This record gives sequence, C-alpha cells and structure tokens, in this order.
Amino acid sequence: MHYDFAPLEGITGWVLRGVHRRHFPEADRYFTPFAVANQTRNFKTKEWEDLDPRHNEGVPVVPQILANRADEFLWAAEEIRALGYPEVNLNLGCPVPMIARKHKGSGMLADPEELDRLLDGIFEGLAKAGGPRLSVKTRLGTEDFGKTDRLMEIYRKYPLTDLIIHPRTQRDMYRAPADPAMFSRALLSYGQAQGACKPADLYYNGDLRTAADCAGIRERFPAIAGVMLGRGLLADPALIREARGGAPLGREELRDYHRDLLQAMRETLPGDAVTIGRMKELWLYLGENFPGGDWYLKEIRKAGNMTAYEAAVRSLFVNVPFRAAGSVFPQV
Ligand SMILES: Cc1cc2nc3c(=O)[nH]c(=O)nc-3n(C[C@H](O)[C@H](O)[C@H](O)COP(=O)(O)O)c2cc1C
Repeated sequence: MHYDFAPLEGITGWVLRGVHRRHFPEADRYFTPFAVANQTRNFKTKEWEDLDPRHNEGVPVVPQILANRADEFLWAAEEIRALGYPEVNLNLGCPVPMIARKHKGSGMLADPEELDRLLDGIFEGLAKAGGPRLSVKTRLGTEDFGKTDRLMEIYRKYPLTDLIIHPRTQRDMYRAPADPAMFSRALLSYGQAQGACKPADLYYNGDLRTAADCAGIRERFPAIAGVMLGRGLLADPALIREARGGAPLGREELRDYHRDLLQAMRETLPGDAVTIGRMKELWLYLGENFPGGDWYLKEIRKAGNMTAYEAAVRSLFVNVPFRAAGSVFPQV
C-alpha cells in the first residue's frame, strides 16, 4: 500500500515538504500544489520556486499542473520535465468556483467529451515528446455523480500511471463527506470500461484522518495501489508511519517538527507577519492534537508578533495534555 502526501495550495509548498520529509520520511510521494498552465507560457515566481529541484532535494515530488488546453499543458509538462521530473499530475479536482468556471480543475468534469478531447490532445503530445508520465487527480462530478461512469470510461482509454480519486463533486467543496460508496462505483466502472492500455494504479483520497481510517479503506478496497492523505497528515505528520504499523505521533517530536518548520519559514518567507500567518493556518490542523486546548489555541491565533506567537505555542505545549494515541480527530 502506498501513502502519498496530497497537494494543499498555500500550505504544502517546498518548505513544509522538506521539513516534513526530514522528520517523517514515510511518505512515498509529495504532490505539489498546482502550477497554472495558461497562455502566458510562464509560471509565477512562487511556482518556479516550488518546482526548483534544489528546493526539493531528497524529496520524492510529483508536480501538479492545472490546465484546460492541451497545448498549454504540454508546455508546462515539458518545462517540468526539463527540471528533471519524470512524472506530472493533472488537477481535475479543484472546486474553487473562479477556477471551475473556466473549465479548469473539477470544472473540466462538467463536459466529459471536452475532457476526452483534452486528454486525447495531451497524450498525443506526450507520445511525440516521449514523456513525461502522467497521472490524474480527480473528483467524480460537478453537480452530482451522474457522469461518473462516463468519466471513468474516458480515464480508462488513456495510459495514465495513476488515477487518484477524491469521491466528492465540485459542489461538495469540502463540506459533504468523501463518499466511499461512490469510490466503489467508480472502481467498478473503471474496471468494466474498455481500454487498450494497462489500467492505471488507483488511489483513494478524502477524509482519512487516522491509521484506522486508512486500514478501513485498505480492507474495503484491497485492489487499490494506495491512498493520498491531506488534512489528516497536516494534523498528524506521523500518520503514515502509524498507518504502516509504526509508533503514533509523540508530543516531543511534534514540538521539534514545529520548531524546525517555523525556523525554515522564517528563513524563506518575507517577514514575520507572513510567517506567523502561515503558521496560524497550520494550527487549524495541528490544534487537533490538543483537545481541550481552545484557550491556548486562541492565544496562538491572536499572536501579533513573533514573541507572542512563540510564547503562545510554548504555553500550549506545556499546559495542554496531548491527545491520546489513536484518538479520532474532530472534523475541521
Ligand atoms: C487549503 C486546500 C488547498 C488545496 N489545494 C489543492 C491543490 O493545489 N491541488 C489539488 O489537487 N488538491 C488540492 N486540495 C485538495 C486536497 O489535495 C485533497 O484532495 C482534499 O483535501 C481531500 O483530502 P483530505 O481529506 O485528505 O484532506 C486542497 C485542499 C485544501 C483544503
């Protein structure tokens, strides 16, 4: 069973990936937040920095691209391959309305025939160029699951390396829970569809927060290649280790991880205000390790400078009992 770190735009950039890898080296792969391919034929500075191989040394990274045109996608894939990455991932899941309205991310799922043409153009170009390999991360529809079977038929036509399925619709955003029954249905449609190429390795993504959640999916879907973990892994950076039968997260190692992450953010971000903002966002997840710690977590949220921030974090670690191993996180 493989365990991958999901992309989370604004959170799992190269700095977090590097620190996470040093402290918890169990993930098979880290997917980058999406880099946008559009008519400018250039990535933003932040995207180039995230893809820079020097920033990702020793970290198994799969860059992700957001695109709705084959020529733009192929430009991006070639740039990424030139940086030394043998595989890229296409984002067909982003539910943000501003993006979906442009038929990007999950917006591309509204019209399966348009998706078919996009993949056709992409694979024609990739075959000519001789790579890179392509995987897809997808939701299962826009408004409802009515087109799931057709989407799976289309995916089966193409030589994708991996198909990572997040069983929600665009409309669900992150509110409705991920739906394992729809995942099951998608597996069935994919398995029954005709394809001349080797089928993709299939992955489950969505709402896996504990080692028990991962075991549940493994048991229910023994044929899948792996799972992708996002928010659960932000909350519990040792989740993959525990899911593989290792020790659960300890308070001291979380303290060390936080210390090194803060240090790395300070060294790379433009100023304390930005660093504190990023760290506060992470505490939305890390805070789950401190049940009953609301007052202390609020002090972290209120911190207006680095001294106050560090004092609030120290105070939390000293005063609030760490959650019991294996306890189930409340839903964020
Ligand atoms: C803040 C945030 C940013 C995200 N950014 C991306 C992204 O850049 N690319 C992507 O494919 N998915 C993105 N996602 C979706 C996650 O990768 C993942 O599919 C989703 O959170 C469900 O998995 P989880 O319940 O394990 O977190 C994002 C999710 C959140 C909450």
